[in-house]
Amino acid sequence: MGPTIRIAPSLLAADFSYLAGSVAQVAKDADWIHLDIMDGRFVPNITMGPLVVEAVRKTTDLPLDVHMMIVEPERYLEAFRLAGADSLTVHYEACPHLERVIAEIHETGALAGVALNPATRVDALADIWDELDLVLVMSVNPGFGGQAFWPHAVAKVAQAKALRGDSDRPLIQVDGGINQQTAQLMKQAGADVLVAGTAVFAADDPGLAIRQLRES
Ligand code: DX5
Ligand code: ZN
Repeated sequence: MGPTIRIAPSLLAADFSYLAGSVAQVAKDADWIHLDIMDGRFVPNITMGPLVVEAVRKTTDLPLDVHMMIVEPERYLEAFRLAGADSLTVHYEACPHLERVIAEIHETGALAGVALNPATRVDALADIWDELDLVLVMSVNPGFGGQAFWPHAVAKVAQAKALRGDSDRPLIQVDGGINQQTAQLMKQAGADVLVAGTAVFAADDPGLAIRQLRES
């Protein structure tokens, strides 16, 4: 049996007028629910805050994986944790004092993740590697769903896997442009968690799309 792969559908691609229904569509097949928080500053787009995370929390017992594409994420860790986040992922590029932010995430009781934009090297995390629960390798520039996959991210996943050695932590997560083909590349390179928005919620049957990503 191959290593366990987790699939985290991103609600960014779901119908926001029908969030509870969208969660229900994927609940049987998803491992985590991925929520994209954008502030119009770290990235151009604006999406959701703790209120929406809290609303989603009421619809499911699945882990809520909160991807914070915001400046000064340390100001909102507690709010997202109280809203029901199980993991809080901040961007390397948004945190001059990243080690401290990781400690603050752990103080809330959440799992701590760090996301890397395409231009940020995996090596940048080497000195705090043991403190991380999740490393999120972006395979698009963050900000929007439905973008084309950035192929160099495959090599970055392999670098993260090499840096991890024999350990099973941190989990290696990928996000952006994941579909059947790119999912396969990322799994081969060593990804543990696949985030997918469009490939899941634009499909006629989101549950089937998740099963196909898992088996790809
Ligand atoms: C992009 C977000 C992603 C997005 C992925 O900035 O972090 O989670 O929802 O969407 P797709 O799967 O459509 O590329
Ligand atoms: Zn995301």
